[in-house]
Amino acid sequence: MHLLAIETSCDETAAAVAHIDASGQARILSERISSQVKLHELYGGVVPELAAREHLSNLPLMVEEALKLAGISKSDLGCIAVTRGPGLKGCLLIGLDYAKGLAVSLGIPMIGVNHIEGHLLAPMMDNPELSFPFLCLVVSGGHTEIHEVRGLGDYHLVSRTIDDAAGEAFDKSAHLLGFAYPGGAALAKLGDSVPSSEFSLPKVMRHEAGFSFSGLKTAISLLISKNKERFEKDLLVRASLAHAIQGSIVDALVSKLKAAVRFTGIRQAAITGGVAANRALRAAASAIDGLTVYYPKAEHCTDNAAMIAFVGAKRFIIGQRDALNITAIARWPVEELGRKN
Ligand code: KG4
Ligand code: ZN
Repeated sequence: MHLLAIETSCDETAAAVAHIDASGQARILSERISSQVKLHELYGGVVPELAAREHLSNLPLMVEEALKLAGISKSDLGCIAVTRGPGLKGCLLIGLDYAKGLAVSLGIPMIGVNHIEGHLLAPMMDNPELSFPFLCLVVSGGHTEIHEVRGLGDYHLVSRTIDDAAGEAFDKSAHLLGFAYPGGAALAKLGDSVPSSEFSLPKVMRHEAGFSFSGLKTAISLLISKNKERFEKDLLVRASLAHAIQGSIVDALVSKLKAAVRFTGIRQAAITGGVAANRALRAAASAIDGLTVYYPKAEHCTDNAAMIAFVGAKRFIIGQRDALNITAIARWPVEELGRKN
């Protein structure tokens, strides 16, 4: 049986095709993605209306290409999985309406998937040796949360940001240092170019359960404005600032991950989301005593449709079939999945 997956929750338009065999194993046959980063760079952040308009024109193309790459046609499909939330409402609706139209015209079932569940299980898709239970740190431009992943649909929230996401903290700091949006990776690269920093930033909320980056953001912007003249003249000062900023964000993430390991006694963790590409974060996480850390492939850390296909296939196997009148859910905490929507 072939399953088509669609992802349009933010600024990536993605489609993937999976094959589900008789034993219920899913294999990704193809995946296509169209990123809107260049478009939103002009505005310094994602503009929801523009993102939705882009999805509208790009989605049919991504689906056609994914089907072609998989060597099948629409009539070969047996099911459609689509991201239902959380995300930008207008963007989610484009994917959901497209999926509904296709499901009706082909007479096949549709499954609405939680985007964060996609991120939580993506590490399993790329690391077959990873098994339940494991801790998962989802760290991206929109999300920063740690869950205990106990089984399909069984997610226990350990820690979540109460304000900004870590990726936003990277990007806003990068903006203050003069990098173009999104800027997190560029700031990290500059920070990595020096072995230490002459600057220091406060350790944030080490003893609280949730993440918070707003206090840190204020400290970072004060530090940057105090040293503006110096860093504009001297690349080494800019690199030193970037090193300190990266260190403080990574420390906030890793201290919570460490606490989660202590608290749950679970010895395997996964890190996913765009910020999982960060080398300092990877180094600090792998230094946690007794913990094995897994990552999805780079292209499955960021938003993608393969993870939606992977979850969709698992949910298809356990019999989930959604009504064609389901709505998009812009705010949909993944730990609520066990409850009825
Ligand atoms: O998952 P993702 O692609 O999408 C959104 O959540 O939108 O994550 C993007 C985020 C951005 O904030 C970007 O600056 C950050 O991930 N990012 C990084 C690195 N690579 C991407 N942050 C720090 N270090 C990196 N190497
Ligand atoms: Zn995401």
